[in-house]
Amino acid sequence: MTMANRSLVTMDDLSNGEIEVVFSLANEMLESMDKQSSVCQGKIMASLFFEPSTRTRLSFEAAMHRLGGSVISAVDIGATSLAKGESLADMARIIGDYADIIVIRHPWEGAAKVVADYAGVSVINAGDGSHEHPTQTLLDLYTLKKERQTIEGLKIALWGDLKHGRTIHSLAYALARFGATIHFRPGPGLELPEHVIRKLTTEFEGILERYNDLNGTVKEKLFPLDAIYITPSTSHQLTNIPDVSIQIELKTGVDALYVTRLQTERLSTEAEGEGLKEDYPVVDKKFLKGKEFKEALVMHPLPRVDELAYELDADPKSMYFKQAARGVPVRMALLALLLGTKEVSVPGEEDLSVPKRDYPLYRHDFGVIDHNPKCVSQQGTEKRYIKPEFKIVNREPLILRCVYCEHEFEPKYIASSDWHEGRLDSKKYHSADSHWARKIKSENLIVFGSESEAETRGFKPSHYVRKRR
Ligand code: CP
Repeated sequence: MTMANRSLVTMDDLSNGEIEVVFSLANEMLESMDKQSSVCQGKIMASLFFEPSTRTRLSFEAAMHRLGGSVISAVDIGATSLAKGESLADMARIIGDYADIIVIRHPWEGAAKVVADYAGVSVINAGDGSHEHPTQTLLDLYTLKKERQTIEGLKIALWGDLKHGRTIHSLAYALARFGATIHFRPGPGLELPEHVIRKLTTEFEGILERYNDLNGTVKEKLFPLDAIYITPSTSHQLTNIPDVSIQIELKTGVDALYVTRLQTERLSTEAEGEGLKEDYPVVDKKFLKGKEFKEALVMHPLPRVDELAYELDADPKSMYFKQAARGVPVRMALLALLLGTKEVSVPGEEDLSVPKRDYPLYRHDFGVIDHNPKCVSQQGTEKRYIKPEFKIVNREPLILRCVYCEHEFEPKYIASSDWHEGRLDSKKYHSADSHWARKIKSENLIVFGSESEAETRGFKPSHYVRKRR
């Protein structure tokens, strides 16, 4: 099996079978690290880190050196022509001619997808804003497998900044796919974004029991727990009785506690950070004495700040330095596979296909313009060539998901291009929560963020829109 010329932008790009392939090759790399120096001889990796990094950048570079390849790098946007207004697409085309593979970290959500779309060589997302960090997830899963032999059936508590933590988003998708149960334990105001929750529940078919849906007595015992994602493999009977199922869940404890720091660099103001810091949960020896965490591995993508006590470092259940160290063999395996210098045979029965949903697309550049100011498609240099593109992921209510940052948007008004483009005198728009959301074919759907936008484009309110005013 070859994975040559593929890119890894989100966890959706690898099937579970392929992840297992990466792990088995990582084992091979780990066992004979000093025998890999000709695997990528003659290959060049471009290492582009436009946000701070210690582990991801240096473990990728160490991995490439261990494989006998070479590294070219840029670690400061100000020292590249992006600072002169060059687009990511042009940069990608150029670097794709200089290197055989590109590893990129960038603050814009969806930046790695743009680079992958234009580079013509494999691209690895080393973190794009708050969106995803798939290679961190690979080494997190690798650690879980090494320590617990399986991921299926494990219970993992995700702790801290679930809102901005890109490692959390990638890990939640992967855990759900591998059949783990996830406890979401955010710091106050740092709950998992709705679009991540929706993807978890619609694409991986588990059930989400939300804290707010539980009765008061159960709630008191649970805080701070926001929700539990229950994998479909969990007993159906349990998932039918939410309060009871959550109490049983908590009694049996979790297999791992995945701690994250407050992502201050993603907050709009320093004052916002100060407020959140005050209430940010801290994991220390006292906290871990609770029954729920008795057997739990303590994991963290690092860097840590104040949320994880140094007194835990000597505990054999503390995994965070092991996780970081395992980044080298895992990234060696990934580089060798994507560069096509290693091919792996897979047992015949293994399903290697990447599960992808075929959603219809919305490609008009109106109605959904300001969906996320941190999305790559919203940036001045990139707007010149990126046409906004959204997956129509739901009809009732109508929900569009950006193909770059995966933020979701519920349009307020809709119309059909089929009926109106020059064929009828009367161009009508409707409420997105009317039956028209179901009726209009995806290929004809046009959406508006407001009535004034619809009217600026020459549409008139339908009878029902007028009635609601
Ligand atoms: N875990 C992680 O991404 O660390 P760095 O930011 O140091 O790369």
